[in-house]
Amino acid sequence: MIRLKNDEEIKRIRESCKMLAEVYQDLIPSVEEGISTLEVNRICHDLITKRGGTPAFLDYSGYPASICISINDEVIHGIPSDRVIKDGDLVSLDLGIDLKGYFSDSAITVPVGNISPDAKKLIEVTKQALSAGIDACVHGNRIKDISASVFKVADKHNYGVVREFCGHGVGFEVHESPQIPNYVHPGPNPRIKKGMVLAIEPMINLGTEKVNILDDDWTVVTADGKISAHFEHTLAVFEDHTEILTIPG
Ligand code: MF3
Ligand code: CO
Repeated sequence: MIRLKNDEEIKRIRESCKMLAEVYQDLIPSVEEGISTLEVNRICHDLITKRGGTPAFLDYSGYPASICISINDEVIHGIPSDRVIKDGDLVSLDLGIDLKGYFSDSAITVPVGNISPDAKKLIEVTKQALSAGIDACVHGNRIKDISASVFKVADKHNYGVVREFCGHGVGFEVHESPQIPNYVHPGPNPRIKKGMVLAIEPMINLGTEKVNILDDDWTVVTADGKISAHFEHTLAVFEDHTEILTIPG
């Protein structure tokens, strides 16, 4: 069941999303050469709690940290550790905030120092894929319009589109119905309607779309060891427009 949100509920979710965007603004400058991902996690946790929010991923299905930090061939769900960020790393951050029961979700891939031309292009194309998905996310379209738009951008560049993980409804929980795959597959294809709050999140690999999960049971890595990028926004659908909620207010 897809839970639609009324204007008051969207207002609360918007506040959670604005907080998330502000946290990213404050956090991203610290994502640089020499810092450990555990330290980034600590800074992030403090930024959220001092604003009165709760990190939504902490303890979600047993996830042990406040933010996911995935470097280079890590696609998503990287667990903060003593690993130190290096020059040339591609650092994907994925963060959710629970603000008084209203949930936001957003991801960004941050280039650190001098990254390769391949990495630069992958970041640009993944951003473009998200943007194409957002353009298709309008009242009256269907979920597969989002999937097809995202996939088309990545596929044009022969990149691998991760199949096992997808976008989703959000707002009252971290993950709600519907699922929003980043490729067209034969599954439910609900109509997009006003009152939906959706997170679109392409995970795009430079090489194969195939992924593995590490022994920590969380970290998703590319099967061929090539780099991956991830961008995500939370959106609210209105009858005559769609609002990107996870951008600074
Ligand atoms: N990153 C996921 C998403 O954007 C949610 C993270 S689940 C967690 O939908 F357990 F890893 F935190
Ligand atoms: Co998400």
